Amino acid sequence: MSGDWAVELHGVRKRYGRGGSAVHALRGIDLTLPRRSFTAVMGPSGSGKSTFLQCAAGLDRPSAGTVRLGGTEITGMKENKLTALRRTRLGFVFQAFNLLPSLTVEQNVVLPMRLAGRRPDRRRAAEVLAQVGLADKARRRPGQLSGGQQQRVAIARALVTRPDVVFADEPTGALDTTTAAEILSLLRQAVDTQDATVVMVTHDPSAAAWADRVLFLADGEIVDHLERASAERIAARMTALTARPAFERAAA
Ligand SMILES: Nc1ncnc2c1ncn2[C@@H]1O[C@H](COP(=O)(O)OP(=O)(O)O)[C@@H](O)[C@H]1O
Ligand SMILES: [Mg+2]
Repeated sequence: MSGDWAVELHGVRKRYGRGGSAVHALRGIDLTLPRRSFTAVMGPSGSGKSTFLQCAAGLDRPSAGTVRLGGTEITGMKENKLTALRRTRLGFVFQAFNLLPSLTVEQNVVLPMRLAGRRPDRRRAAEVLAQVGLADKARRRPGQLSGGQQQRVAIARALVTRPDVVFADEPTGALDTTTAAEILSLLRQAVDTQDATVVMVTHDPSAAAWADRVLFLADGEIVDHLERASAERIAARMTALTARPAFERAAA
């Protein structure tokens, strides 16, 4: 049964362009991520991290292979069905927070429900806002909050529908070290106490150290992984990866 996997990728390839100028951004990704797991994806610039996240989250379509989310195959799904699935069963956290400045914090948090055509559940909004430590900020606007607080709102918004998977792209990229640690501990907590599943792209070894598992991408392939590793071990593995020239990695 595939139902126990939050994310499944089989033979996922992504090619941009055609012929001699084609870029093979993903060259066959096979991956299964269990529910209630926290996975970090690292790799040199251009290794395919963003493409991986886009394909895994149904924001872009692979050139080949299949993607399943929470047991549902999304490959070949019609655009409107895929959009509905993203709104109800996935959560997103971006580097740039992506909150709507004219809405209050609470309105931002219930936005995924509105977009999915559901009645905004204010009790659930209060619950997730309390969870990220912003119970008293529901009526504020994002512009009145610090960067770290804004990213907490984004996390509350990502969790409000109890999604199958939360995808995070450099969620701490715009934050200082202390604030970053607070955000990462909230993602960790969501996995440990709210049964969430998190997939996070990061270039920061100390962010990746919060994950259960770190996957290393190079030239569109998963070339390495670490389980429950320290920031130091992760950094050393990254250095080893970037030190090897691409032709050597391709031959390995
Ligand atoms: N829309 C696109 N069109 C053409 N090439 C792209 C596009 N998006 C990404 N690429 C290429 O695909 C490769 C992987 O990119 P990306 O997934 O953004 O890597 P990363 O996020 O690890 O830096 C790179 O060579 C990049 O130039
Ligand atoms: Mg990227």
